[in-house]
Formats: sequence, structure tokens, C-alpha cells
Amino acid sequence: MSGVPFVDFRARVAAWRGEIEEAVGRVLDSGRFILGPEGEAFERELASAFGAGDAVGVANGTEAIQLALAAAGVGAGDDVVTSPLTAAFTGLAILAAGARPVFADLDPVTLNVSPEAVARAITPRTRALLPVHLYGHPADLDPLLELARARGIPLVEDACQAHGARYKGRMVGALSGLGALSFYPTKNLGALGDGGAVLVNDPALAARLRRLRNGGQTDRYHHVEPGLNSRLDEMQAAILRVGLRHLEAANTRRRELAALYRRELAGADGIVLPAEQPYARSNHHLFVVRHSRRDQVMAALRERGIGMLIHYPVPLHLQGAFASLGGRRGDFPVAEKAAGEVFSLPLYPELSDAQALAVAAAVRELAARRT
Ligand SMILES: Cc1ncc(COP(=O)(O)O)c(C=O)c1O
Repeated sequence: MSGVPFVDFRARVAAWRGEIEEAVGRVLDSGRFILGPEGEAFERELASAFGAGDAVGVANGTEAIQLALAAAGVGAGDDVVTSPLTAAFTGLAILAAGARPVFADLDPVTLNVSPEAVARAITPRTRALLPVHLYGHPADLDPLLELARARGIPLVEDACQAHGARYKGRMVGALSGLGALSFYPTKNLGALGDGGAVLVNDPALAARLRRLRNGGQTDRYHHVEPGLNSRLDEMQAAILRVGLRHLEAANTRRRELAALYRRELAGADGIVLPAEQPYARSNHHLFVVRHSRRDQVMAALRERGIGMLIHYPVPLHLQGAFASLGGRRGDFPVAEKAAGEVFSLPLYPELSDAQALAVAAAVRELAARRT
């Protein structure tokens, strides 16, 4: 087998090509490209599929987080407690909302924020909690929701990686009443471009979000508050309607592949497999393993043409973009250790069993190699 790519967008488009062309054709025929019937239909279908009161389409996941925080009243002078091991965009969205990210260390097994560490990070300045359902495995929400409730502050779920994942049997994203999704093409529900949405249960907040994503306008050219230009366009909305129809089947295929990796990699030398907690049903957005000699194993896999990525090599408190927060090495030991050991194997619905078996065999062999 000549290599396995980390993602394969052409295979995804090929699988749904007829439906995508039909959706794009509908938009071309409609002559409506921004805030039209496709976006409205997608918002309804998304809210219904995710068990949310409402969904507001926006331009990307970063702005979904920013706008969710803004709609919840978070702004200048406020702290938001989040994970140091996530896409930097989580922290950048907090900064863009005018607030300050405060990090809490992780549960060493799930690599999601530990509720105990979040409790220790809360101060009188804390105005929101922003747990990330990292890799598509839900964070332990109940204790986090209890902390937020006790403090009277909102909890916004960063569900950008978690489309279709379940916490105690319920779909994540709107369990707290406010959550952000990204439709970046690699996501389980991915656009063919950028896109995002806020899931929201409160109708007043939904109305505010619709205003904020459109420059703060109530009526055309009447701006009652400063907002963003963060609209989901009709083309992406129409394409996402296709993806939404296939989401559960695609997640089922991801689950099969994850089971294959678990079976084939059980007992592999030095490989730590991801564990699904009893309260969680992962959507297997990423299949992330750990190895103490990660860089060496990855380099050898790349030589064989197997695509691997690291999610994420540098925790946020050690990134230049967050230097003003004054983070130092040693602040979040669990996150820092994980950042040195994690790597993600190719996992997407179009990956064949033969490809996954080839990846697993190579990982098994190269993880055991000492030189
Ligand atoms: C956990 C997480 N949060 C936020 C984002 C930002 O989403 P987007 O790239 O759509 O802005 C992403 C994706 O990159 C993500 O994975």
C-alpha cells in the first residue's frame, strides 16, 4: 500500500458528489447567497438534530465561540476558564471577546479539563467556563455545570470537534444551553470552506446572536450594538445540509475504524490508546494515541507515507499569542506532558479497513523499534 493520507477530502466529495452538486445548483438558481432559505433550513435542521432550541449559523467556529461569549455578556475585564490543550482558536476567541483566558489543567486520561482544576481556577473575576470536548470525547459536564450554576455564570461548550458525541446519552453542544460548532472541512460535519454555528436554547439569546453575527443590525442599516460580520453563506449552508444527513452514518463508520485500531493496537509497545469514559460516547473526530518517543515513531511513520498530525504540540500558555498572560513551563504539567506524547492516526469515514490495518501494523512495528 503506497501511503495513507491523514485526510482525504476528494474521497468525501466523491461519496456525496451528486447531492453536493444538487445543493450548489439550488443556490445558484435561487440568486440568494447570504442569509437566505438554505441558511434558515440548515439552522432548523441542525437545532433539531442536536436537540437544541435553536442554531445560529456563523462564519467559523472561532467566531461562534466569540459570539456565544459576547451574547452571554462576557467582555472586558472578565476571565474565562478553559483548557490549555486545544486549538489555539479557543483561546483566541476569548481574547477576541475582550476577555482573558485562564487555563485549568487536564484529566490525564481524557485530556479534557479536570473539574477539580477548574474549581481551583475560579476567582471572583471568572465570568464563564469554556470546556472543550477535545478530540470529540465529551468533557465531564455535570460537575462543570454544577460549578457554573453555583457561581451563577454561563458554561459555553466548545463542541467544535464533537458533532454527534454524547454525554450520558445526550448529544453535546447544547447541554449547557450555549455551545459552539466549527464546520472546518476536517470536522465530522464539515463544510467545503469555513463555517460555524452557535447552538442556543434561550430564544432571547438566539435573537441577540442573530443580530451580533450581522453587524449588530436589527433592520437593514440600523445597528443597535457593535457586532461582527460573521454570516454563514448560502453555499456552505446548502452543502452542510447534505453533510448533516450523513452525520450519524459517518460517525458510525468512524466508530468501526476506532474499534479496529483498538483491536489491532492492543498491547503495542509503549502505545497508550484513547479510553472512552462510561459517561461518554465519542464521535471519534480524532484518534489520538500517546507514546513517550512520539517524535521518533512519527518520523518513521511519515517515511512510510502515513499521514500523522499532533493535536497539539504546544499548550496555549506556552504559545507566543498568549505570552501576555504570563504562562510558564510547569504551570500545567498534565497538558505539557500530553503535548510531548500525543499523535493522531488517520481516521475518517472514507478510510478503508485495509488502509487502517496498514496504519495499525506500521504503528505496532515502529513503536517497538528502539533506534
Ligand atoms: C476545539 C476547537 N475550537 C475552535 C476551533 C475553531 O474553529 P474554526 O477553525 O472553524 O474557526 C476549532 C477548529 O479549528 C477547534 O478544533
